[in-house]
Amino acid sequence: MKTFFELAQTRRSTRKFKTDAVPQEIQEQLQKIVLMSPASKRANPWEFIFVEDKAMLETISTCKQMGAAFVKDAPLAVVVIADPQKSDVWIEDASIASTYLHLAAEDLGLGSCWVQIRRRGKEDGEPAGDVLKKALNIPENMEVLSVIAIGYKEEERKPFDLTRLQLERIHKETF
Ligand SMILES: Cc1cc2nc3c(=O)[nH]c(=O)nc-3n(C[C@H](O)[C@H](O)[C@H](O)COP(=O)(O)O)c2cc1C
Repeated sequence: MKTFFELAQTRRSTRKFKTDAVPQEIQEQLQKIVLMSPASKRANPWEFIFVEDKAMLETISTCKQMGAAFVKDAPLAVVVIADPQKSDVWIEDASIASTYLHLAAEDLGLGSCWVQIRRRGKEDGEPAGDVLKKALNIPENMEVLSVIAIGYKEEERKPFDLTRLQLERIHKETF
């Protein structure tokens, strides 16, 4: 079993996946893990849509101008949404949940990539979140933060090079 340090070092964004489906028992583990993510005041403003339907994955892949095309060939995409009425820090809560999915996928032997949806859009200016709300029947009061594309890795990427750590970003006591 990997230590958390090893997990953090080997987790790299995966955008090329094998065609194999993510088994249901692995999806259930991802579901349980994401529901354990911390949330401010335990308000849990988030919800998660697990998408495997090929046509829907294709729709997700075209919801914004750049950076989502590879979702078309992912076997699974988890759409992370949240209700801003339930928490004033829904962005933080939904981002932590997205990070949990990203790291949990690595821990379960899968690759994944964060696809930013909030504040992103199509060439004509249509917000990516609006495209996904329509396609996935997401209630109007909810916002889409991200999509986490998940699947078995088609290519192994090098672990993070520890000689490139930006140690100068760490400050002690004061800036
Ligand atoms: C908030 C956030 C938004 C991101 N959005 C996208 C995206 O829309 N499309 C994409 O291909 N990668 C996206 N990424 C992945 C980053 O490009 C990637 O994490 C970064 O280049 C570092 O590479 P690594 O994850 O392999 O270490 C996003 C990552 C984060 C944290």
